[in-house]
Amino acid sequence: MELRIKTIQVDEKLKVYDIPRRIKVAILMENVIQTYSLTKSYGPHIALDSMNLKVQQGATGLLGPNGAGKSTLIKTLLGLITATEGEGEVLGYNIRTEGEEIRKRIGYMPEYDCLDPRLSAVDQIKYSGELLGMNPSVATQRAHEVLEYVGLRDQRYREIGTFSTGMAQAAKLATSIIHDPQLLIADEPTNGLDTQSREFMLSTVTQIVQEGGRSMLMASHLMEDVEKVCSRIVMLHKGKLIAQGRIEDLKGIDQEIEVHAWGGATKLEQELNDSGLKVRRTGRVLRIIKDDEDSYSTIIGAATKTGCQIRRMHDHEPSLEDLFLVIMERLGYEVKSSEDLLVSGPTSRKVDAPEELKG
Ligand SMILES: Nc1ncnc2c1ncn2[C@@H]1O[C@H](COP(=O)(O)OP(=O)(O)OP(=O)(O)O)[C@@H](O)[C@H]1O
Ligand SMILES: [Mg+2]
Repeated sequence: MELRIKTIQVDEKLKVYDIPRRIKVAILMENVIQTYSLTKSYGPHIALDSMNLKVQQGATGLLGPNGAGKSTLIKTLLGLITATEGEGEVLGYNIRTEGEEIRKRIGYMPEYDCLDPRLSAVDQIKYSGELLGMNPSVATQRAHEVLEYVGLRDQRYREIGTFSTGMAQAAKLATSIIHDPQLLIADEPTNGLDTQSREFMLSTVTQIVQEGGRSMLMASHLMEDVEKVCSRIVMLHKGKLIAQGRIEDLKGIDQEIEVHAWGGATKLEQELNDSGLKVRRTGRVLRIIKDDEDSYSTIIGAATKTGCQIRRMHDHEPSLEDLFLVIMERLGYEVKSSEDLLVSGPTSRKVDAPEELKG
């Protein structure tokens, strides 16, 4: 509630005193999105389960496998569907009662096809601008600008029905940024794109955030895409929030040592397990959770004892995919609080783990 009051004051001051934009950005609240026990059920099916979400300024990836609840969360945040329980704010506006205010200030790029195939790109984008309240000449000028920005300058008079998937996605992006929104919410923006269009889409949204100073929530099940663009993530699984925060911090939760073993990897794995270390193994490559610096000598001791050769051993640089696996493994199916994932130290980390992982 306190955040909302701040935003309204900022907007009013802007109208009266014309405060320069950079000051407005500086005063704006820390969290562009915040939810409190947000729940959405479709009949008996719980698609969002009591979520306490905090999305800060900058680029945040919304990750999760199919059916995790990403699109449901976005639609609930935009006030397009009503939450069953709980509350939420986007840019300080209430998602239950101020959906229209939210939709005016954000750019939404939905996952479904939302363009009219009979319109030319420029007419489609101009129309979107008019729907947002722009007068026709401003909307036309902006349509040309944003189409150029998304790389569709030469195709702007073509009918959208003749566009490739990549061009249609770029046109969707243009539609969502015509009013220069503070926050862009993009649902699977790289869906169905070939490598080149995908790279272009990712670099364009990166530019919007880094050079334009805007914020973005990007839903994707492609961890690689999120890692390229976002510094923070929100991770969902079966309607539950399983992690949120800076990618760098989350990766620090469980550091692993990678060992390439030769001749006796199975025995080594067994010995390491017996020594109390947690091991994930793929063939001759073992990833061992690094409890502390002593883990190295424990591994060498185990290799000596079992007669297994260690060909290579180093700290593993985890990808987001690894992070997801480690989090899932650690948390099992019951997640009580995502915040504890960010608390360092073995004791606090175990607080949230299911019974069988606590030992
Ligand atoms: N209108 C609806 N009616 C009933 N169930 C729905 C509806 N929309 C979504 N669901 C269910 O809610 C869950 C979450 O769906 P949602 O579309 O939000 O997932 P998602 O993370 O966006 O998945 P995807 O990666 O496939 O886009 C799924 O189990 C889905 O089947
Ligand atoms: Mg979806």
